[in-house]
Amino acid sequence: MNRVRQRIQYIFIASFFSTIFLFAFIGSPAQKVGYGKPHLLKRGNYAQLIVDNKPFIITGGELGNSTASSARFMESIWPKLKKLNLNTVIAPVYWELTEPVEGKFDFQLVDDLISNSRKNNFKLVLLWFGTWKNSMSCYVPEWMKMDQQRFPRTQNSTGKTEEIITPFSLNALQSDKKAFIQLMRHLKEIDSKQQTVVMIQVENEIGMLPEARDYSSAANDAFNRPVPAALINYLASNKNSLLPEIKQVWESKGFKTSGSWEDVFGKSLATDELFMAWYFGAFVEEIAKAGKNVYDLPMYVNAALNRAGRKPGEYPSAGPLPHVMDVWKAAAPSLDFFSPDFYNPDFKYWNDLYTRSSNPLFIPEHKFEPGVDAKALYAIGHYKAIGFSPFSIESTNQPEKEPIRNAYQIIQQLSGEIGKANPQNLEGVLLSLEQDSVTINHGDYVLTVTHPYNLSWAPKTNDWPLTGGIIIALPNDEFYVGGTGLVISFKSISGSQVGILKIDEGKFVNGIWRPGRRMNGDQDHQGRHLRIDVNDYSIQRIKLYQYK
Ligand code: DGJ
Repeated sequence: MNRVRQRIQYIFIASFFSTIFLFAFIGSPAQKVGYGKPHLLKRGNYAQLIVDNKPFIITGGELGNSTASSARFMESIWPKLKKLNLNTVIAPVYWELTEPVEGKFDFQLVDDLISNSRKNNFKLVLLWFGTWKNSMSCYVPEWMKMDQQRFPRTQNSTGKTEEIITPFSLNALQSDKKAFIQLMRHLKEIDSKQQTVVMIQVENEIGMLPEARDYSSAANDAFNRPVPAALINYLASNKNSLLPEIKQVWESKGFKTSGSWEDVFGKSLATDELFMAWYFGAFVEEIAKAGKNVYDLPMYVNAALNRAGRKPGEYPSAGPLPHVMDVWKAAAPSLDFFSPDFYNPDFKYWNDLYTRSSNPLFIPEHKFEPGVDAKALYAIGHYKAIGFSPFSIESTNQPEKEPIRNAYQIIQQLSGEIGKANPQNLEGVLLSLEQDSVTINHGDYVLTVTHPYNLSWAPKTNDWPLTGGIIIALPNDEFYVGGTGLVISFKSISGSQVGILKIDEGKFVNGIWRPGRRMNGDQDHQGRHLRIDVNDYSIQRIKLYQYK
């Protein structure tokens, strides 16, 4: 009996001290309030999305615009999404269906999305299709469309109205804000414990068409008033770190700090675009800020990318594009980042622009086309992206054959290592006929990564699939390489010879590396390189050594 009592005392004392230890080093539960919510964690120039208290990489798919408007239609879509190995579904919330009668809200579609996502173990990013969707106001409720007096439209320079609600309409702002607050309140009520919804996109591809700015009377008034002090202050206090495009426009009039838009920035389409960017941004800020006050999830806006040679208005002017991003930042500080939508081939070019000024990269839309698998790997490895997502993901008829599912499996398996890795130990590659080889320096090592169609025994063709991968450097001359279509050879900077000590193909099971095949002989060209063939998707762990 005494022994039992002693045991109980011992357990009690041990658990008392371990609780004290946990509180001291990890923080008491009280200190952790709000910590568990999805949020962004800044890491130098990058950011991680933290979900369930762990770094989370979105291997996502965005639904086509009308797909989520019917729960019944969605029934046949869920199994498809599962086969694609997504961990996140990106889906619209339609204002017109959420508030069909002013002031009466219906969140049935949102509830269906959440319950089915939970059943399938998906997270959700919700897209608020509010006042603007691809410039237009097609998703505003009928009661808004029909009341032009209360909800005025933009006008072009000849006075013609467009089906675009003007950002100068206070009524529109109030209505959008009210509906968005209801949405966030609803999410807080039903999801703040389980946290299926991890981010919110506010509006969709905002931008002015068919001219660079709105010419309605409210817009003209604002255009002739002084540039708001908040923008001038932002420009002045960030003068040394402004992006070059806006700095140039401001410099052209001698960095003026007061006057109308044309006084400060000159008379040009660039000025018209900056003007609209400010007012679009200010409108979105009100909505995002109000939504975050209710339920603080990460929020962002997405942009339709402009094509070379097109003028603002020929492309959706004043969306959150790189050349006006500083204005968006000043106008909408509640937004966490700005995202590119890719229907444009220049993947590296735009990602380079979108990652300036430490803007975290999230690619909510990429045309669902061959090569998205390689681009997803590259975006996560090279740009440390928060996530990637082809658009209209459900459009495939053969989900089990889509290469993106293999790339997603690799990213998900590597996600623990990616989450832990110091950004400089993480790289990504994207290879093609045009860029068939890249070199990566790490410590004393130089890695030359080449497309397998460069090998002497490769098929002779000009039809090279895009290939790509993620490389994570570990201590002690080791690397994980995950991807498709990569051949890597190794040299040292110091001049020693570099040999392959061993390569294992393997998998992560519950975060633990489980080696499978030892990749030697023909598989590593008798110790000359690491290779993952085209159409093969795998993870290999390599250990190097040096000899004289
Ligand atoms: C970009 C938009 O953001 C999407 O909602 C969709 O309209 C695609 N373009 C094209 O289908």
